[in-house]
Amino acid sequence: MIHEITHPLLKTLVNHLRDIKTDALRFRHTVMDISRFLVYEAFRDLDMEQKEVDTWIGKYKGSFIDEENLLFVTILRAGMPMLDGVNELFPDVSSGFLAMKRDEESKKSVLYYDRVPECKDQTVILLDVMVATGGSLSDAIDLIKRREPKRIITLNIIASREGLENVSQKHPDVDIFVAQIDEELNSDKFIIPGLGDAGDRSYNTLD
Ligand code: PRP
Repeated sequence: MIHEITHPLLKTLVNHLRDIKTDALRFRHTVMDISRFLVYEAFRDLDMEQKEVDTWIGKYKGSFIDEENLLFVTILRAGMPMLDGVNELFPDVSSGFLAMKRDEESKKSVLYYDRVPECKDQTVILLDVMVATGGSLSDAIDLIKRREPKRIITLNIIASREGLENVSQKHPDVDIFVAQIDEELNSDKFIIPGLGDAGDRSYNTLD
């Protein structure tokens, strides 16, 4: 299921990312801010656990998100600042890393690094800035599904409608939280207007 989050602050932040004057440092910080916003929306229905804490007037039992059953998995490179953003809110959640590169000839994703901890019965939150054709996200979901998680959620900043539909047709059981859906994908499979290449924008590797 696709959840597009509409909020004036989120739209403003996405449009700062579109601006080519936004330098790498601000780009990464904006990605972090948007990611915290997305995780806030995505976690509305999460299970809570009761935990006792010591307060200034004694013991208190309160509700907390059960961080032990969550796992963030970021898709490198562009997803790296997304992980930094959500980890600041949930410092006890484990993190995994998948590196995927879209082959610019075939437009297919290629996996070149896989360092993901145990997924069985975990709620896995996949982080990637962009969904263009949807190939990378679909392949990442396939890979995680083979490891028997309880649930998969994805957080994405910008997506083409076509790419999102590809992913949600293949994976109707996955909840996709996205900040911006753009209508077009050009012949090179870039999102239009999009942001350009988020990995390059984040790490100053534009030609
Ligand atoms: C981008 C993006 C996604 C992928 C989306 O990564 O971060 O992972 O492309 O394209 P798709 O939906 O058509 O598969 P890229 O390959 O540019 O790698 P990078 O993050 O290292 O720049």
